[in-house]
Amino acid sequence: MNALAKNTVADPEREFKMGNGEFQAIAKAIYKHAGIVIDSSKRELVYSRMSRRLRALSLSDFSSYLSILEGAQGKSEIKHLINTLTTNHTRFFREPHHFQYMQETIIPYWKKRAEKTGNKRLRIWCAASSTGEEPYTLAMVIANGLKGSVQWDWKILATDIDTSVLAAAKKGIYENKALEEIPKDYRRSYINKLGDGQFEIKPELKRHLTFNRLNLHGAWPIKTSFDMIFCRNVFIYFDLPSKQLLVDRFSEVLSEEGWFFLGHSESILVENSPFKLVGRTIYEPSNVVRRL
Ligand SMILES: C[S@@+](CC[C@H](N)C(=O)[O-])C[C@H]1O[C@@H](n2cnc3c(N)ncnc32)[C@H](O)[C@@H]1O
Repeated sequence: MNALAKNTVADPEREFKMGNGEFQAIAKAIYKHAGIVIDSSKRELVYSRMSRRLRALSLSDFSSYLSILEGAQGKSEIKHLINTLTTNHTRFFREPHHFQYMQETIIPYWKKRAEKTGNKRLRIWCAASSTGEEPYTLAMVIANGLKGSVQWDWKILATDIDTSVLAAAKKGIYENKALEEIPKDYRRSYINKLGDGQFEIKPELKRHLTFNRLNLHGAWPIKTSFDMIFCRNVFIYFDLPSKQLLVDRFSEVLSEEGWFFLGHSESILVENSPFKLVGRTIYEPSNVVRRL
């Protein structure tokens, strides 16, 4: 059987028939609604993730699923499609050099600036926050760095396109096996053991975070200027024109003395870019203004 035939004929051992046209239609829908690029190398992944959704809807093939997507229920089904196809892998203190940079460079800068100007207001955006480990890590590092210094007003906006990961993030409850990702001192200060194999983020830390659904390629109902933006390990799913547009949009909502973080395998072309590189996937505005 040649490759094309294999792509278009149902495999008799497969639970559902997914022809090439059906795969392409799903790839087109996720690109349109989430900007996520899925090429044919992801065919198996799409099949296995979407099979769960087909089972949940008691469907027997992908063409019935596409009829739903294109029909009256399409709008609500899109959210399920997005939740099914996004990759949400994350962990506490992922890429620890970023948190070290915060401890050694950013937080001392904020503290010095506060001494000089009295400005103790900080706004942070974690722009693809998944199940919450990343924004809670940011919160732990900030709370720890500002310990002993009073009257700070700091808030983290955590957003994601996937409503199921946002619901988990809002709960802030994790399995004990994730404890080893969190340094001991932080565990003592910022988590409560629940005694059922789980732990929770302490409410006094949680109160600094707000979780909202936001599609990075859609409208941003943002009225503030951020001191720091984390947008890690999501650019890898987007195409170049979308990434370039996003970089410009992030630069518009980042303070002129702010910092912008990408994931370890991501980068932006610094030529003609509003950002310059200052560390491992750490950027600051190219027209940065440091007031110290
Ligand atoms: C691999 S996780 C990265 C999580 C975290 N930033 C980290 O580095 O550990 C990617 C996240 O991006 C989210 N995502 C994908 N497309 C998105 C979009 N268009 N807008 C907002 N979030 C998106 C996914 O739902 C997923 O939770």
